[in-house]
Amino acid sequence: MTNAIDGRVASGKQVFTEGDIAAAVVRIAAAVRADYAGEELMMVGVLKGAVLFAGDLMRALGDYPLIVDFIAVNSYNTGRDGSGGQVRLLKDLDIDPAGRHILLVEDIVDEGLTLEYLLTNLRSRGPLSVRSCALLNKAYHRKNSVAADYVGLEAPDAFLVGYGLDFQERFRNIPHIRQLQPARSSVP
Ligand code: IMP
Repeated sequence: MTNAIDGRVASGKQVFTEGDIAAAVVRIAAAVRADYAGEELMMVGVLKGAVLFAGDLMRALGDYPLIVDFIAVNSYNTGRDGSGGQVRLLKDLDIDPAGRHILLVEDIVDEGLTLEYLLTNLRSRGPLSVRSCALLNKAYHRKNSVAADYVGLEAPDAFLVGYGLDFQERFRNIPHIRQLQPARSSVP
């Protein structure tokens, strides 16, 4: 089973190189710097998928005034049949977001349910502002009208792994982003 999945990853094509990702991170950091004009930001990374992106974005923001926290959610996507999914909070913030400018950092926006849940949750806690950034945007299966304020790269309609993205908790450590080759009988 594991070998079959390894084969699907190995034979899936590379979608974004480390260079593509690094350039996207630099672009987002520049836009954030310009938009917030020196006001302190609270970056909220969404575990686990955004862990590498959040780390690289922090580093790209250099000396910008920043505090950092993480939140973890589980998304239960119920398939592409329109029946919807559920999002559950697994780990809350350690720092109170009230009175702060929040920048939510997501790995990928697909159906949009996770981002919608997190934006609603954070906006209900009295922040000064909430914006979001996503390294990847998949526009094909959106179930609502949410969109990240900062998007790094437009993703193809394929299941992707690497740079934080997993398939069954594996492959997050691949430094670039690859496509998981669809299985003959089932696609995740
Ligand atoms: P959404 O609620 O469908 O937008 O789900 C977003 C979450 O689904 C992301 O934060 C990822 O964890 C996961 N996800 C969506 N597409 C992919 C993919 O291609 N590879 C790995 N995870 C994905």
